Amino acid sequence: MQASSLVAKNIEFSYPDTVFQFPDIEIASGQSCALVGPSGSGKTTLLHLIAGLLSPTAGRIEIAGQDIVNMSQSQRDQFRGQHMGIVLQRLHLMSALTVSQNLQLAQKLAGNTGAEPTELLAELDMADKAHSKPDELSVGQAQRVAIARAVIHQPSLILADEPTSSLDDANAERVLSILQKQAAKCNAALLVITHDARVRGQLDHCIEMPAQTNTQEAAA
Ligand SMILES: Nc1ncnc2c1ncn2[C@@H]1O[C@H](COP(=O)(O)OP(=O)(O)O)[C@@H](O)[C@H]1O
Ligand SMILES: [Mg+2]
Repeated sequence: MQASSLVAKNIEFSYPDTVFQFPDIEIASGQSCALVGPSGSGKTTLLHLIAGLLSPTAGRIEIAGQDIVNMSQSQRDQFRGQHMGIVLQRLHLMSALTVSQNLQLAQKLAGNTGAEPTELLAELDMADKAHSKPDELSVGQAQRVAIARAVIHQPSLILADEPTSSLDDANAERVLSILQKQAAKCNAALLVITHDARVRGQLDHCIEMPAQTNTQEAAA
């Protein structure tokens, strides 16, 4: 049996006015999962918890067999850099750097391991954009660079927040297939978090995120 790249169980988190209890997630290496739910249901919050950017008030999060909840902040930052690839909703590409330089920087920060940037760009049909700046790309092309940056160091877990929401059907399908293909190549688990119903059925598994039932009462 494949080891699990991601286990998130009994996760709870509170903002001052909102208490979340999240569905359990377990994804084996090489498998993909969509977490689909309406806006405001806490999807981005859950992604930030799994990425170790927020700390849960309860629950267990293990990535590649490592408990990230009990790591120190600096251990978690280092772990994230080495073992996770994250495609955030806003892509956060460095606008002063070319596509190729954006990838080289990501690779350097992860310890100079992983794929060859030129080869990866060619796989994503972006070889001719290696020397372009992010502002010179279409939305779909920028999305593919953000994916390349997230997988260049061959992480164990790939997280994507609404990767298809600003894309037409053809590009949405393409982005999902690229994410799956790259995850398979790294033998990573892939978690796509989205309100986009088109994603349902396209990945190996789908978890429905309940609308957020709220709030102070839930805390009582
Ligand atoms: N930084 C924050 N401070 C306080 N409340 C927040 C914050 N971020 C999100 N929330 C609350 O959590 C809810 C869910 O947010 P989010 O995780 O972004 O949901 P989704 O990604 O599903 O749209 C928001 O509607 C808001 O009530
Ligand atoms: Mg969101």
